[in-house]
Amino acid sequence: MRKMLIAGNWKMNFAPKKAVKFVDQIKESIDIKERDVVLCVPYVALQPVKDALKGTSVQVGAQNVHYMDDGAYTGEISPAMLDEMEVPYVIVGHSERREKFAESDTTVNLRALRALKHGLCPIICVGETQKQRGAQRTEDVLRKQVKFALDEIKPERAEKVVIAYEPIWAIGTGVTATTAQAEDACAFIRTLLVERFGKEIAQKIRILYGGSVTPKNAAELFSQPNIDGGLVGGASTIPTFDEVVKAGL
Ligand code: PGA
Repeated sequence: MRKMLIAGNWKMNFAPKKAVKFVDQIKESIDIKERDVVLCVPYVALQPVKDALKGTSVQVGAQNVHYMDDGAYTGEISPAMLDEMEVPYVIVGHSERREKFAESDTTVNLRALRALKHGLCPIICVGETQKQRGAQRTEDVLRKQVKFALDEIKPERAEKVVIAYEPIWAIGTGVTATTAQAEDACAFIRTLLVERFGKEIAQKIRILYGGSVTPKNAAELFSQPNIDGGLVGGASTIPTFDEVVKAGL
């Protein structure tokens, strides 16, 4: 059985002081033994939030990571650094990174590979644009993104991988994919994982849905057989995040 994972993606919100205040406010209500809960926070808030979460089962994650361990990469953070800080999760290839920071399928793959090498769980984001969906190209896009992202990942490390299906048109728009659209895409991603790693491993990899998840729609989304939780943006930055974390329990 896959344990459901609910990951909050704070994006570029909450400086350290505000982050700790918010975490102190919600940490008890999101500390749920039935689910893995992760807060992906800005780099500068990682340590303070980690400290604030001590004594709970809630974990922290970063929102991006470079694909080298060190070197002349001004402004970047390496997987070795996150490893030393004992940060267990990192988002890789979020559509905002792909669109606004020119990340490609190739660098997404390199980031995921290097993160895995350091024992981090990469939450690899994939998803189509509105135009691609309209042109019935969703499966082609997902096939390409998933294939590239998983290149050279060894089967023995694959179980640490998390895939987040995030249709770009649903991110921050208030327009959520219908439950059927989300489940269909996640089920399709599962077939790609079976092709790549075989059935046994594919059944262990968690696939999240992301894109305007709220306390209202979360329970239905999370009830689907191939949706193993959510990557939650806006709704993870308000006190009712616990309702998403507990949705459907
Ligand atoms: P949203 O963002 O929940 O605000 O739509 C999701 C994401 O970008 O991961």
